[in-house]
Amino acid sequence: MVEVLVTGGAGFIGSNFVEFALAAHPDWRITTLDKLTYAGRLENLREVMDHPRHRFVRGDVADAAVARPLVAAAEVVVHFAAETHVDRAIQDAGAFIRTDVYGTFVLLAAAREAPGLRRFLQISTDEVYGSVAAGASTETDELRPRNPYAASKAGADRLAFSYWATHGVPVVIARASNNYGPRQFPEKMIPLFVSNALDNLPLPLYGDGRQSRDWLHVTDHCRALDLLLERGRPGETYNVGGGSELENVALTRLILDLLDRPASLLRHVPDRPGHDRRYRLDTAKLRALGWTPQIEFGPGLRAVVEWYRDNEWWWRPIKEADPAFRAYYEQQYGNVL
Ligand code: NAD
Ligand code: DAU
Repeated sequence: MVEVLVTGGAGFIGSNFVEFALAAHPDWRITTLDKLTYAGRLENLREVMDHPRHRFVRGDVADAAVARPLVAAAEVVVHFAAETHVDRAIQDAGAFIRTDVYGTFVLLAAAREAPGLRRFLQISTDEVYGSVAAGASTETDELRPRNPYAASKAGADRLAFSYWATHGVPVVIARASNNYGPRQFPEKMIPLFVSNALDNLPLPLYGDGRQSRDWLHVTDHCRALDLLLERGRPGETYNVGGGSELENVALTRLILDLLDRPASLLRHVPDRPGHDRRYRLDTAKLRALGWTPQIEFGPGLRAVVEWYRDNEWWWRPIKEADPAFRAYYEQQYGNVL
C-alpha cells in the first residue's frame, strides 16, 4: 500500500482529489488531515468517510505535534490546506500567513525528516504571477503577487522550492488556474452567483466586470495532479490551466442564462482592492507530460450549475444558517447590495 497524506482534503479541491485518487489507485491508503475551518466540511468527504482505504484526522498543519508523525508515515504528501479566499485576505491576512506560509514550513520541516517520502506536491496557484496584461504566464516568469493571499501562496511556493534546493525534499509544485466544480464554498464567484441567482438575489460583480480568469474544471485539475505525482520532476514547477478564458461579466451572463434569470440581477459593486485584471497560464510543460483538459467550459459550467441547483442541502445551510458566513457576507456586501 502507498501511504498518502492529503492536507486540506475536506475542502473543495482536496475532497475532489481524495475521491478521485481512491478510485484511481486501489493501492493507495489516504489520510486526510484537515483543521475543518469554515471552508472545511465533513460532508465534502461523505462518499469516502467509510472507505476502508481512507481515514480522516482533524488537525492543524501548523501544529508540528500533529503534522510531523503523519508526514513521517507518508510516501506521498499532497498539500492543499490553505486559507484561500482573496476577499477574506483583504479583510484580514493573519490566518493566511499562519496557515499558508507557516503551516507549509511545518510540513516541509517534517518532510525533511520523513524516511520514506517520495513526493511532496505543493498546491500553488496562478495568482503568484500577478496580473498578466497579455500572453500567458510560464513557469519561469517572475512572481509578482498583488494581494495578501497571493503573496502568502507565493511564500509557500518558494519555501517549498527552497526545501528541494537546500534539503533535497522531493517537492513538485503545481500552479493551477481558477477551479470550478461541485462543493466549492459559496463565497467564491461561481457558487455565490449561482446560489444567489437561484434565490433571485443580486449578483455582485466587482468593478467593470472585465477582469478575466482561466477556468479549469476541478476533475481536470485532479487528473493533472495525479500525473504530476507520477511524472513531475522534483524541483520543477508546472502550470495547470484550463485555457477557458472568460471575462467575469460574460460568465455572469452565462450563469443567468443557464438559470433563466433576468440580466437585472447583475449588480456592479465597487471593485476588489488590488484586483488582478487577468490570469492566463501557458501549460506547454504539463501538456508535454501527456495532460490536456478534458472538460470543455460550456458543458462543464452547465453541469456545475445543475449540481448547485440539485444540491441545495449542501450550500443552503451555509448561506442561511451559518452565522459566520452571514457575518462575512454582511461585511463584504452589506453596504453595496
Ligand atoms: P478551500 O478553502 O475549499 O479548502 C481549504 C481546506 O483547507 C479546508 O478544508 C480547510 O479546512 C483546510 N485548512 C485550512 N487551514 C488549515 C490548517 N491550518 N490546517 C489544516 N487544514 C486547513 O480551498 P480550495 O479551493 O479547495 O483550495 C485548495 C488549495 O488549492 C489551496 O492551497 C489553494 O490555494 C489552491 N488553489 C485553489 C484554486 C481554486 O480555484 N480554488 C486554484 C489554484 C490553487
Ligand atoms: O486563480 C486561482 C485562484 O482562484 C485561487 O488561488 C483562489 O484560491 C481562488 O479563490 C480563486 O481566486 P479568485 O479571486 O480568482 O476567485 P473568486 O471566485 O473570488 O473570484 C473570481 C473572479 O470574480 C475575480 O475576478 C473576482 C470576481 N468576483 C468575485 C466575487 C466573490 C466578483 O466580481 N464578485 C464577487 O462577489
